[in-house]
Amino acid sequence: MKVIACYANKGGVGKTSTAVNIAYASAADGKRTLLCDLDPQGASSFYFKVKPSKKLTLGKFFGDEERFLKAISESEYVNLDVLPANMTFRDFDVFLSQLKKSDSRLKKTLKTVKADYDVVVLDCPPTLSALSESLFKASDVILVPVIPSPLSARTFDQLVDFFKEQDLDPTKLLPFFSMVQMVKGLHTQTMTRLLTSYPKQFFKAMIPYAADVEKMGVHLEPAIHTAPTGTAALAYQDLYDELQGRLKRNK
Ligand SMILES: Nc1ncnc2c1ncn2[C@@H]1O[C@H](COP(=O)(O)OP(=O)(O)O)[C@@H](O)[C@H]1O
Ligand SMILES: [Mg+2]
Repeated sequence: MKVIACYANKGGVGKTSTAVNIAYASAADGKRTLLCDLDPQGASSFYFKVKPSKKLTLGKFFGDEERFLKAISESEYVNLDVLPANMTFRDFDVFLSQLKKSDSRLKKTLKTVKADYDVVVLDCPPTLSALSESLFKASDVILVPVIPSPLSARTFDQLVDFFKEQDLDPTKLLPFFSMVQMVKGLHTQTMTRLLTSYPKQFFKAMIPYAADVEKMGVHLEPAIHTAPTGTAALAYQDLYDELQGRLKRNK
């Protein structure tokens, strides 16, 4: 079972949109896929029309296998299930920091579903704390959407520094450009800067700024499903295909 986190230490950069489309592409590729929504706002559960599970408190999330499994819902797509978030998830950091071996707890919990899924996609909240350390450890790879703007680029630099300071495996970090607008000079300049600083890390695939992604909030479907030939869908599919190669390399 491969664990793919969609993570950035910044909000509004495309984590949820990526998690939803990558999970969909994985299921369509015949892989038994679980999308695990770890953000209390529950956006990815909402996109898959799955309601929050009121009974899955954090104590149960980490301590009650049966309740964890019961909270998983089928989506309307073959091979794709969803573990919905709920508002108790806003206390993930405090809760985890009080547990022993907090950085291994998420990995241990996900082992519960090891036999049931080929791929777990984690839609993460934008924190750099006990939860993020736990999810860095639980993940095989960490997809990091980076808007090619100075602030988003800076948070990626901070994330790379954090990995160095904490002695974490930097090859797990797989950044890609998100919400790209080539007409903006600042975007192309920032992309050039980042590709120079991190020559091997960034994906070739990049996600353009596209209305199809915003419309996911109207259709409640992944863009790849609603508009499969649109620029966003093709870009997410390219990202998924490239990710398969990276997963093999990161074995
Ligand atoms: N490629 C894109 N083009 C246009 N809008 C996008 C794109 N990616 C995300 N958005 C929009 O930006 C907002 C934040 O995206 P989201 O995926 O929820 O980010 P995050 O999970 O990082 O907070 C949402 O309204 C979403 O519809
Ligand atoms: Mg999100």
